[in-house]
Amino acid sequence: MTKLSVNINKVATLRNARGGDMPNVLKVALDCERFGADGITVHPRPDERHIRRKDVYDLRPLLHTEFNIEGYPSKDFMDMVLKVKPHQVTLVPDSPTQLTSNAGWDTKLHCSFLSEVLEVLNHAGIRTSVFVSTDPEMIEYAAKAGTDRVELYTEPYASAYAKDPEAAVAPFVEAAKVARKLGLGLNAGHDLSLQNLHCFYQNIPWLDEVSIGHALICDALYLGLERTIQEYKNCLH
Ligand code: PXP
Repeated sequence: MTKLSVNINKVATLRNARGGDMPNVLKVALDCERFGADGITVHPRPDERHIRRKDVYDLRPLLHTEFNIEGYPSKDFMDMVLKVKPHQVTLVPDSPTQLTSNAGWDTKLHCSFLSEVLEVLNHAGIRTSVFVSTDPEMIEYAAKAGTDRVELYTEPYASAYAKDPEAAVAPFVEAAKVARKLGLGLNAGHDLSLQNLHCFYQNIPWLDEVSIGHALICDALYLGLERTIQEYKNCLH
């Protein structure tokens, strides 16, 4: 079964726009679970422009499903995740000011840094995932660094999908085979949507998890959160 982890960053962005507590991020997370999400993802950034550190601590004891925290492994980030102990930490190479993640790690260049970080997380019993492109070498070095899983950066798939779905997914199928051969678990995320998710899943049915935020929250404006989550889940059958 491929799990759907709902990234609730955009919900926090909306809340922060007015400085109050509407919408309530914790309630939305619990409702996502109630409506069928298999996990909740957050990406706390140093400037707290969407998910805040406090949200991360508040969410931990409330969630019943899998909690995935994404971020660049700065000292602050590592201190927080070691305290919070989510089920999974996804390492992304973002700079603090970046609008959104827009590339995977250069795992060859940063292999020793990633090894150190992954060892600490593995030792703490937290499952690890490293955000990568489809380049087989990047996946091989992620495995060498000691990650449990890789998360494929799917923006290139999403942007090429409309023109030629088969060509768009082909490099991801190859990358997924490399990951499987290396014994890695497989996640995927970025710009996945109701339009492109089913094709991705059909071609890579051994995918462990997708994490989806932007398109899902946009769809919820029209369809409502409950129906939206059900429709995303339907894409994973
Ligand atoms: N995976 C990672 C590593 C991300 O940084 C993001 C965006 O925060 C996502 C998945 C979700 O992407 P989207 O919001 O486009 O669904």
